[in-house]
This record gives sequence, structure tokens and C-alpha cells, in this order.
Amino acid sequence: MSPAKPEPGRIGPSNVARAFDEHARSYDRLVGANRGYHEHLRMTARRMGLRDRGAGLRLLDLGCGTGASTQALLDAAPEAEIIGVDASSEMLSIARAKTWPPGVSFVHARVDDLASAGITGLYDGILAAYLLRNLSEPNAALRSFYALLKPGAPLAVHEYSVADSARSKAIWSAVCWGVIIPMGKLRSGSADLYKYLWRSVLDFDGVEAFTTRMHATGFVDVKVQTFPGWQQHIVHTFLGRRAPEPDTPPLGLNLKKKAEPRDD
Ligand SMILES: C[S@@+](CC[C@H](N)C(=O)[O-])C[C@H]1O[C@@H](n2cnc3c(N)ncnc32)[C@H](O)[C@@H]1O
Repeated sequence: MSPAKPEPGRIGPSNVARAFDEHARSYDRLVGANRGYHEHLRMTARRMGLRDRGAGLRLLDLGCGTGASTQALLDAAPEAEIIGVDASSEMLSIARAKTWPPGVSFVHARVDDLASAGITGLYDGILAAYLLRNLSEPNAALRSFYALLKPGAPLAVHEYSVADSARSKAIWSAVCWGVIIPMGKLRSGSADLYKYLWRSVLDFDGVEAFTTRMHATGFVDVKVQTFPGWQQHIVHTFLGRRAPEPDTPPLGLNLKKKAEPRDD
């Protein structure tokens, strides 16, 4: 992955949220035309294995955009408290305008700086859908997500990852140049964000590299699943858990052995 600085006028991690501001009004129509988009988000949210319809759980949807991933999380855990976070005020205003139960709220913040927006731990689960590829410091982001999770709680990263497969890269480029880029330009008047999408996916980690990053951060039970449709081996759920706290040893078991009284 090469989180290089964008050239002037080019979209990159430092200005991608601003680019989403400009495309916010056409975003829902475009993703709605992408068959499988919403169902795949729901599958990722279900893969998190959230218990009891989310009753009593606090969840984060990082890079929530217009709320598509927030809705998926809500479908999997309708009784949870869910906080959606995004750096684009326009994407958030579309999310906020939708109808949500009282447990859902939204915060305008960069995920690189969650603490200053009052997002501090601990949470019962984090979903980050189509976000990681946009960050300049993915390792730092993974570390901060890890620190926000309760021991044993899941992180689901829902993301494009094609670098390990020539076939996936070819299908991705064909879908982008045949459908996404022309349709994006038609609907929003500019192809810039969609060309960035194409390029950022090609630059992002392959499945192996990203799972290695997760392991290196400390995540356990890391597994990767894909989806049916053209997205197969192109879009993935990367699931991992914060390591559970080591079992507390029975009282006294880890005390240093007392010196035996000597007979002499
Ligand atoms: C492709 S959209 C995904 C939206 C939503 N998760 C979904 O599945 O439809 C990516 C979102 O990430 C946000 N984003 C990008 N970089 C960010 C950052 N550093 N902090 C917070 N949000 C960011 C963008 O503003 C955008 O709304």
C-alpha cells in the first residue's frame, strides 16, 4: 500500500473527505445501482457475531458516510447504541437526515483523531466499511481501533482488496472503466472521485498484507471472507478481535512460592 501525498489537484488521504463532500448528494443513488452493495454490508455486520440483537452494546461505524454501513450495523444489532463517525460534513448531513432510532447518533470527526472528538473506549464492536484504503496511516488507525475495543470485541473491515490476484485486478479495472467511472461522471458531473476509487483500490494491500497488518496490531481470530457476485475476491470482510484478557489465575496461584521452613 502506498499512502503517498496526493499531487496538487489529486485526491488522496488528506483531501478525500472534501471530495466526498462534493459527491455526497449522488452517493446513495450510485451505490444503490451497485448490485450487492447493501446486502454485502449487512453480511459483514452479521459476520461480527453481535449477540442479543445488540442489547446493551456500544458500537462504532467509522467512515459511516451517508449511513449505508450504519444501517447494516443497525440491522444486525437493532437494540445497540451506534455512533457513526465521518470526516465529511456533507456525507454526514445526508446520514443525519434519514430516520434513525434514538440509539443511533453521528459525530463529525477524522478517524485519525477520535479522542479529540470525545470518542474514547471502550466499545463492543467496530465496523469500518470502505474506509481503511483512504487513510494515510493504516497501522496507526488499526492500533487506535484496537485500543477502543473491549477485550474479545470484534473489528470488521469491509474493503476492496485485489492486489493478490491478477484476475481480481482485471475485473476491478473493467468494472471501474466500464461502469463506475462513466456512471459516476454522469450522475455527479465529475469522474475524479471514481478515478481515485479505482486507483486507491489497486494501491491498497492484498488480502495477505492486510491480514498481516491486523495480526501485527494484536488482533486475534483474524479471518477473511468474500462475497458472491462480481465482488467475489474483490470485496472482503476482514474480521478480527481484540485479544481477550488472560484468564485471571485462581487466587494465590501466581504468588511466588514461599520459602519452605528449614529443619536445621
Ligand atoms: C466510500 S465511503 C463509505 C461510506 C459508508 N461506510 C458506506 O459503506 O457506504 C468512505 C467514507 O470515509 C470517509 N473518510 C475518509 N477518510 C476519513 C477519515 N480520515 N476520517 C473519517 N472519515 C473518513 C469519507 O468522508 C467517506 O464518507
